[in-house]
Amino acid sequence: MEADESLRSRLLRAPALAGPLPPFDTGRAPARPGELFVRWIGEALDAGTGEPQVMTLSTADRQGRPSARVLLLRDVDVEDCGFVFATSSASRKGRELADNPRAALTWYWPAQGRQVRVTGRVETAPPRTAREDFLGRSPASREAAFTGRTSAPLSGAREYEHARARAREHLAADPLAVPPDHTVCTVRADEIEFWQGSADRHHVRLRYLREGDGWTRDLLWP
Ligand SMILES: Cc1cc2nc3c(=O)[nH]c(=O)nc-3n(C[C@H](O)[C@H](O)[C@H](O)COP(=O)(O)O)c2cc1C
Repeated sequence: MEADESLRSRLLRAPALAGPLPPFDTGRAPARPGELFVRWIGEALDAGTGEPQVMTLSTADRQGRPSARVLLLRDVDVEDCGFVFATSSASRKGRELADNPRAALTWYWPAQGRQVRVTGRVETAPPRTAREDFLGRSPASREAAFTGRTSAPLSGAREYEHARARAREHLAADPLAVPPDHTVCTVRADEIEFWQGSADRHHVRLRYLREGDGWTRDLLWP
């Protein structure tokens, strides 16, 4: 069944890339893409763009079947173009990454009409880093991490509340407890594309490819 007429016309009328959007002078782009990423996300933060640290992480299982979900970017390795996130290694994405440690990340910052796309290898930080990350979290976040198993089937609210009460007791008895599956990962980009939208649809795409210790750059047709 198709969406009803009114939804379809609302979708078609909803503005996208309406502008005014900034120009993108690719001739002045830095040699290292990490610097450009930091500039763009900084401009999204300065402009008050809602939650610019939110990104889509795409993974694939052993058969190549993709799955994607939204995560928070926690840090950027500017020098070596790495993007840090935290998650559960027991979750669906965690299991997929164990089988296939390659991933894609995507951001979209509507106020600037900018998209960034990354693909690369995923590295897992040592347990010490995961521990520091976890203990730096809010009590609510730590309690949630101990509540049940991310991505496992849940029978309903009763099971959830039971697990939540157990998590609370566990943390009260051991405030420095860290879930064994809490993991900090870095997507080490081997390809990163900066996409600048334009209201007249003459979009600009600049792609960096990792080559040895450096990067090559080329433009792509939009
Ligand atoms: C705004 C937002 C931020 C999120 N941040 C994270 C995060 O940093 N880490 C994480 O594991 N899940 C985060 N989630 C939940 C994931 O989207 C996802 O539901 C969960 O990790 C299970 O994914 P999986 O079943 O594909 O493994 C976030 C969700 C939203 C909407």
